[in-house]
Amino acid sequence: MIKRKSQREIEKMHEAGKLLASVHKQLRTFIKPGITTMEIENFVEKYLTERGATGEQKGYQGYEFTTCASINDEICHGFPRKEKLNEGDIVTIDMVVNLNGFLADSAWTHAVGEISEEAQKLMDVTKTSLYKGIEQAVPGNRIGDIGHAIQSYAEGEGYSVVRDFTGHGIGDSIHEDPYIPHFGAAGKGARLKEGMVITIEPMINVGKWASQMDENNWTARTVDGSLSAQYEHTVAITKEGPFILTEQEDE
Ligand code: MF3
Ligand code: CO
Repeated sequence: MIKRKSQREIEKMHEAGKLLASVHKQLRTFIKPGITTMEIENFVEKYLTERGATGEQKGYQGYEFTTCASINDEICHGFPRKEKLNEGDIVTIDMVVNLNGFLADSAWTHAVGEISEEAQKLMDVTKTSLYKGIEQAVPGNRIGDIGHAIQSYAEGEGYSVVRDFTGHGIGDSIHEDPYIPHFGAAGKGARLKEGMVITIEPMINVGKWASQMDENNWTARTVDGSLSAQYEHTVAITKEGPFILTEQEDE
């Protein structure tokens, strides 16, 4: 069942989203060579606690951390850990913020120091693909319009779109209907309506899209070892168009 949110609920989710956006902005300067993803995890937990918020991922289906930290060929759901990040790595930090019972979900890929041209281009294309998907999030369009916009752009740049993880509705819990694939056919799927709040979160690989699961049963990585990036926003569908609840003002 697809739930639609009132204007008040969307405003409350926006408060959570603004806080989440400020975390990613902080991480832009916090993340550098020598930092560990466990230090990022601890920084984020403290930052949220000090502002009266909590991380919704911790305890969700047995997940033990506030953040997911996915490095290089890891697609998503990497665990925070004690090894240092190296110059040239890319790391995607994903989190769901709960502020006063309202949720927002956003992931961002960060560069660790100087990165290769290949990694920078992957990040640029992935971020642009997110915004191309968001443009389609208007009442009357269909879910397939979002995936089609992302896929045609990313594949046109020579990259592939991960198939095994999708965006999703978000409300009282992290994952609600509908599911939002980042690939597909224009004009297909359920119609988007005012008041729906969804995440769009393309995971784009330099090589093939196939993913494999680590032994921890959470972390997905590329089968071919190629780099993977991800950008995610929580977006409300409104009469005025897509309303990005997790926007970082200067992005
Ligand atoms: N933020 C993730 C998403 O986009 C949720 C990760 S699952 C969790 O769907 F267990 F880590 F919470
Ligand atoms: Co999400």
